[in-house]
Amino acid sequence: MQAVILVGGEGTRLRPLTYTRPKSMLPVLNRPFLEHMLAHLRQAGVDEVFLALHYLPDAIRSHFGDGQGWGLRLHYSVEPFPLGTAGPLRLVAERLHSTFIVCNGDIFTDLDIGEAVAFHRRHRAVATIVLTPVEDPSPFGMVETTPEGRVLRFKEKPSREEVTTLWVNAGTYILEPEVLQWVPPNQKYMVEQGLFPDLVRRGEAVYAFRSRSYWLDMGTPRNYLRLHRDLLLGLVSSPLRDEGVVECRPGVWAAADVHVHESATLKGPLLLGPGCVISPHARVIGPTVLGRECRLEEGSQVAEALLWEEVVLHPHARAEGCILGKGVCLQAGATVGKGCVLADGVVVGEGNRLDRGIALAPGTHLPPRSVSLLDGY
Ligand code: GDD
Ligand code: MG
Repeated sequence: MQAVILVGGEGTRLRPLTYTRPKSMLPVLNRPFLEHMLAHLRQAGVDEVFLALHYLPDAIRSHFGDGQGWGLRLHYSVEPFPLGTAGPLRLVAERLHSTFIVCNGDIFTDLDIGEAVAFHRRHRAVATIVLTPVEDPSPFGMVETTPEGRVLRFKEKPSREEVTTLWVNAGTYILEPEVLQWVPPNQKYMVEQGLFPDLVRRGEAVYAFRSRSYWLDMGTPRNYLRLHRDLLLGLVSSPLRDEGVVECRPGVWAAADVHVHESATLKGPLLLGPGCVISPHARVIGPTVLGRECRLEEGSQVAEALLWEEVVLHPHARAEGCILGKGVCLQAGATVGKGCVLADGVVVGEGNRLDRGIALAPGTHLPPRSVSLLDGY
């Protein structure tokens, strides 16, 4: 079966992390997010995938090549300008031969794709949209249906007053190639506001498959952290979860060459990437992931955080509830708190205190003691 994954977006809500990597290449359990998606599709019987790219395409292309290492045939379609969510499908239309799957490139789900395809076939649909229930539909695309599951109406990003159902577009579709005739070529066109409402207007069989599987759009810092928490706590699994790591003590998964000093504290769930060094009296409190070759020096502490590769915490530095990009360095006694996002190469000088969602662009150097937080504001 064929699939198209939409991975061309700029990931604006995940800036500054996405200044240097496309959203779909951000690490999840120390593997690019897209690897998890591809493994899930492959398990469902997909053997050929078109990656629809625009933003930072080489980061994706050079990593996956022809897809052989992932047991898939991969093709790349690079848009000269962003074609939206339907335009990219039209671009590869001639190569799509029968029922195919479309995925937003930022959704983590353990959806049973085979079941959704069977539903699509049973209803002789031309398009099936997978729906998921959410508490607040306003950041998503709300979809109204008949009790039998026939789609009636879409409302993208409804205001709270406009909410009529908690079921939203889950960003996975099963489509027949014939629907692509209704997508205008070479222009930006959306499935959400264009193709799907148009098909409904034409009276075509557009169905909704309601799924209660795990579902998360990882496209915001909060959700990106949440995904790690859920994976580490075992609320959802990934086919890649145990590759290259062993559970060396309950709740602590580590690569083979991790060095943990006997006086250090590890409290799971944790994932420690290859080459990590945890020095005397350092503390790592889960759910936390350390990327490859992170170094926690004496008395430093990491709690409920996500560290990419080569992050260094100097003595008594602290990182809590935050995301630290590749090569970030917290100098002695610096603290980075809840909701902060530090992009690749940021250096936080001694004694700084960052908190409450401060984000720093790639390569920022904060001189020692330049940021503090006032009490009571
Ligand atoms: N190739 C390509 N070209 N991909 C694009 C483009 C583009 O111009 N624009 C966006 N994408 C990709 C993004 O990379 C992402 O994987 C996917 O399309 C969806 O874009 P988002 O920017 O993440 O959209 P959203 O999360 O606000 O809303 C969409 O997803 C929701 C589910 O998470 C909509 O489909 C909603 O209806 C849906 O509920
Ligand atoms: Mg999204």
